[in-house]
Amino acid sequence: MSEEVPAAKKRIGVLISGSGTNLQAILDASAKGDLDAQVAVVISDNEDAYGLERARKAGVPAVWVDRSAYESAHAYNDAIRDVLLEHDVDLVAMAGYMRLLGTEVLLVFRDRVLNIHPALLPAFPGALGIRDAFEYGVKVTGVTVHLADEKFDSGPIIAQEAVEVAEDDTLETLEAKMHQVEHRLYPKALQWMVEGRVSLRGRRTRIKL
Ligand code: GRF
Repeated sequence: MSEEVPAAKKRIGVLISGSGTNLQAILDASAKGDLDAQVAVVISDNEDAYGLERARKAGVPAVWVDRSAYESAHAYNDAIRDVLLEHDVDLVAMAGYMRLLGTEVLLVFRDRVLNIHPALLPAFPGALGIRDAFEYGVKVTGVTVHLADEKFDSGPIIAQEAVEVAEDDTLETLEAKMHQVEHRLYPKALQWMVEGRVSLRGRRTRIKL
């Protein structure tokens, strides 16, 4: 009788530029078994990103890809793609990665690249989603996890969760609430991807219950 070989865990490549608290949430969910996947590599465009340190502490390869070492965005994105391929990545999670991801990566990982944005897209895209929503005076904002495409904050939405802006919220207290939701929602959406529960119809996604 042949023994059943357990299926290999899906491998996630995480792209960061900064502190990497979302990366940490993904690492923690993976360690706890809430996310049935392993972080195979963390890539940063910023040598000083604290997220690289978080990766090292978790025993995950941490790679800095220096944009200034490449003549063009094309060559730089080729390099990012090659690192992801070297580490045999199945899924890519952008977690505070502050650059547009090139077609060089998106073509290889078509519909397998996720991004998290701290606003209810399509409202308040861009680098300052929390602040822009707060200053606009919205009563409800929230977090979006979506598939990445060639534009900033624009691909099909996988998950959204609303966050109320309370009367006494300051930008700082709102940021803290938003990050808490991010750290819960991103691993959950990644788990849906790992389980193959997300399907696409045009730009609408459907999540199988
Ligand atoms: C998060 O708010 C995320 O939504 C946005 O960038 C921030 C990254 O924070 N895309 P961190 O590096 O994960 O702490």
